[in-house]
Amino acid sequence: MPPVYSLRNFSLSDHMEASKDTALVTGASAGIGAEFCRQLAERCGRIIAVARRGERLDELKAELGHAVEIHPVVADLTVAADRERVVRTMEELGPVDFLVNNAGLGTFGEFNETELPAQQRQVDLHITATLALTHATLPGMIERGRGTIINLSSTAAFSGKPRAMVYCGSKAFLNLFSRGLQAEVAEHGIKVQSLCPGFTCSEFHDREGVTRAGFRRDQVPEEMWMEASEVVAQSLAALDGGQVTVLTGDHNREAARADLLAQADELS
Ligand SMILES: NC(=O)c1ccc[n+]([C@@H]2O[C@H](COP(=O)([O-])OP(=O)(O)OC[C@H]3O[C@@H](n4cnc5c(N)ncnc54)[C@H](OP(=O)(O)O)[C@@H]3O)[C@@H](O)[C@H]2O)c1
Repeated sequence: MPPVYSLRNFSLSDHMEASKDTALVTGASAGIGAEFCRQLAERCGRIIAVARRGERLDELKAELGHAVEIHPVVADLTVAADRERVVRTMEELGPVDFLVNNAGLGTFGEFNETELPAQQRQVDLHITATLALTHATLPGMIERGRGTIINLSSTAAFSGKPRAMVYCGSKAFLNLFSRGLQAEVAEHGIKVQSLCPGFTCSEFHDREGVTRAGFRRDQVPEEMWMEASEVVAQSLAALDGGQVTVLTGDHNREAARADLLAQADELS
C-alpha cells in the first residue's frame, strides 16, 4: 500500500514553492473533493472550489480560510455556459497548477428504464467537464513546465457492470484519457493521475440516482469502505511514484486486477 501523505514527504523549499500554487477542485462541496481541498490547503496558496451548492463552499471557506485563499465558484458543470464561466474564472485567478476533476454522480438502474438526460448528465460531468477544464489548463502548465492533473475515476472503470454501464464507461474513458495524456505531456513536467477509489464514505451513495436504484450501504461489507481522507492521502502520496492509474486500498487493486484478467480471458 502506498505511504500515507504527509508533509514530511516534502522539503521546505518544495513546500514554499508549492505554497504559491493555485488549485482548482470540482465537486469541492462534499466528500472526496472537499477532502482534496483540506489536504491541498497545505500545498497551495489559492484554491478555486467549484460545485452547485454555494452554501457548502462558503462553509469550506470558513473552515480553511485561515490556511489558504478559497474562491468559491457556484456552477453546474453539466451546463456548457457554467463550464465556460469556470474557465473564465480560472483565467482570471490562475494560472492553475493543480487541477482536480472530481465532480461526479451515479445514475444507476437498467439503461432502458432510466431517463436518458440523467444518463447524459454523467457523461457531461465526468467526461465533457473534464475535457473542458483540462484543455483550458494545459497551455499554461506546458508554458510553465509544471502542473498536476488528477481525474476522479473509480474501480467501476474496470468492471462494466449491468445497471451502471454509463457510470463505468465514463470512468473507463477517464482512465484511458489520463494514460494517453500523461504520455503526451510528461516531457513538459506535468503529472496526470487517474484516481480509482472503491467504496468511499461520502454523500455519493445518498444521492437520488443511487438510492433510487435500491442501493443500501449495508449491502457492502464494512471493511470495504474507505474514508475520503485516506483516499486523498493515497492519491497525493502516489504522485511522487509517477503511476497514472492509482487504485486505493489492496482490496480494490485485487478486484480491479480480477476484472481485467477476466476481460483478457474473454479475448482468447
Ligand atoms: N464515494 C465513492 O464510493 C466513490 C468511489 C469511486 C469513485 N468516486 C468518484 O469520486 C468523485 C467524488 O465523489 P464523492 O464520493 O465525493 O461524492 P459526493 O460526496 O456526492 O460529492 C460529489 C461532488 O460533486 C459535485 N457535483 C455533483 N454534480 C455536479 C454538477 N452537476 N456540477 C458541479 N458539481 C457537481 C457535488 O457538489 P454539488 O452537489 O454541491 O454540486 C459534490 O461536491 C466522483 O467523481 C465519484 O464518481 C466515488
